[in-house]
Amino acid sequence: MIAQPLTILDHHYQELRDDGKDVIQGLSQTPKTLSPKYFYDDHGSLLFEKICELPEYYPTRTEAWILQQYADEIVEITGCCELIELGSGSSTKTRLLLDAYQKIADSCKYLPIDVSGGILKDSVLQLQEKYPNFSIHGLLGTYEQALVHLESNYLQSRMLFFLGSSLGNFNQEECAIFLTQVSQTLQPGDYFLLGIDLQKPQDILEAAYNDSQEVTAAFNLNMLSHLNWRFQGNFDINLFKHQAIYNQIDNQIEMYLHCQQNHCISLETLDLKISFEVGESILTEISRKFDLATMETQLQSKGLKTVKTWTDEQQWFGLILCQVV
Ligand code: AVJ
Repeated sequence: MIAQPLTILDHHYQELRDDGKDVIQGLSQTPKTLSPKYFYDDHGSLLFEKICELPEYYPTRTEAWILQQYADEIVEITGCCELIELGSGSSTKTRLLLDAYQKIADSCKYLPIDVSGGILKDSVLQLQEKYPNFSIHGLLGTYEQALVHLESNYLQSRMLFFLGSSLGNFNQEECAIFLTQVSQTLQPGDYFLLGIDLQKPQDILEAAYNDSQEVTAAFNLNMLSHLNWRFQGNFDINLFKHQAIYNQIDNQIEMYLHCQQNHCISLETLDLKISFEVGESILTEISRKFDLATMETQLQSKGLKTVKTWTDEQQWFGLILCQVV
């Protein structure tokens, strides 16, 4: 994958392109699936920001609390290094880390990576203003593209961070592949900071993904609007309903778009026509809920040795700092 420089923000911003083949694949199989990365066009990213503030959606504020408490400790362990964030979004929580790094280093490098161009561009500009001594460089692209890019552009010791439990979007197999790639992208001594949502009672989980203001429903349905503009499609979001359930066997929230009526759709630029039947659903996301000890073991098997783990009082969310051996 080649990183193409984009003119908008010259060297502060690069675009890594993607082609939609996964949409064709996902909608052609039974049951139909779509990648959660399609949640995040600019509107979707804004909806996600709203989700993060919902009373029922505990992950963001719980992780922010942990970061708030322990950012100085993290910085003390890692020292100054190149800071790279996968799925940075608005980089709101990241500021807690950047503040702590700013205390120990005159200049630091921060590379936020996201699939949502608008939010990335805005946050790079805002961060550059707030942290004038930092060198900030946004990368627009998927995790896979970013990791390939990072592997061939190694400059200095790194801390890669992956917050918000976005790892939960990967099934076990994808998770194993991803962690192998992370481990390969880093060098011995480099750090990986991982935020994961932990297992907890079903009612708390289901409330977090079926909020009373129905922001999560709008977020889920927006995926179809995103496909409409990106691939010249004609999805009618009124023909689908949001559903989120907790699968207790696999320990994961499953988000679906449930079809209300038989119909066909087309995505012109993908040259794709798909028919839907009433009662059928599209799986748009899994959000796995983890066990800390199991995750530490898995990281260890990938050459990522846990240095320290932090959690909140209720043990709802975990933050693992590990180091490449
Ligand atoms: C950003 C993937 C961690 O799984 O909780 C929020 C996305 N989906 N509400 C999550 C999400 C529905 C979120 N992650």
